[in-house]
Amino acid sequence: MDISGAVVVVTGGASGIGRAMARRFAADGARSVVVADIDGAGAAAVAAEIGGRGEHLDVTSEDDMVTMIDRIEAEVGPIELWCGNAGIGTGSGIDLDNDGWNAAWNVNVLANVIAARKLVPLWTERGSGHLLITASAAGLLTNLGDAPYTVTKHGAVALAEWIAITHGAQGVGVSCLCPQGVRTPMTESDGDLAIEVVKAMGMIEPEEVAEAVAVGLAADDFLILPHPEVARYEQRRAGDRARWLTGMRKLQESLPAW
Ligand SMILES: NC(=O)c1ccc[n+]([C@@H]2O[C@H](COP(=O)([O-])OP(=O)(O)OC[C@H]3O[C@@H](n4cnc5c(N)ncnc54)[C@H](O)[C@@H]3O)[C@@H](O)[C@H]2O)c1
Repeated sequence: MDISGAVVVVTGGASGIGRAMARRFAADGARSVVVADIDGAGAAAVAAEIGGRGEHLDVTSEDDMVTMIDRIEAEVGPIELWCGNAGIGTGSGIDLDNDGWNAAWNVNVLANVIAARKLVPLWTERGSGHLLITASAAGLLTNLGDAPYTVTKHGAVALAEWIAITHGAQGVGVSCLCPQGVRTPMTESDGDLAIEVVKAMGMIEPEEVAEAVAVGLAADDFLILPHPEVARYEQRRAGDRARWLTGMRKLQESLPAW
């Protein structure tokens, strides 16, 4: 897809990867970049910096998301790229209570369902539109130390695949962004297994993710891998699941128990 002249929305755009993507889209000539985040002040600050539009949005509220989309379409123009990028980790195993699991599900998966339910019919009618879901390498592999993150990011990848298969022929483009470690507020804490393991695998900057996104969108790539080695890891996992599980177990045992 061509960013130049497009109306773009980035959820979770106040910080980290979302902020870097919003800045990059503005630099690449998007007509309008809408920065939507539960941190309304942060969204407004990024929007002010790039000449975009800031929106306070909790992506788990269907009413708020639908109202925002209607408002943007009426006041700015048809949305051509929606980046469902807001996401949360938990740092927990299966012991996390249902409220914690539901929170991860609502932000990491259901928010993208809500956006797609509203936008895909508009896009199929227009014959074009693009959805980018920020999943994670955890959605293709696993994230040691965070069960809800792993499970919901696998769900995000599955959702992106399903929409691409079901609506791809109707003009709906889909990209699934699956980075490994990226230096953002999400990964800045110390002493948490889920984060320490990501740091140990090698961190990149949000701007490098935005670069991979720009290249991937221009090529209409489905899978966008800012860490290219993730493709090899995924092939190893698919090629011999038992061996991959043994390797992951060994990796976990080799790490300090935080
Ligand atoms: N940092 C990494 O290593 C890494 C790796 C792979 C994938 N990701 C994914 O990238 C995305 C962005 O994460 P990041 O690393 O930039 O983290 P971040 O914490 O810097 O940014 C996440 C943003 O999402 C917003 N947000 C959270 N809940 C929200 C809600 N209910 N409604 C609206 N906005 C909400 C936060 O306010 C924040 O601005 C997430 O989906 C994350 O899972 C991150």
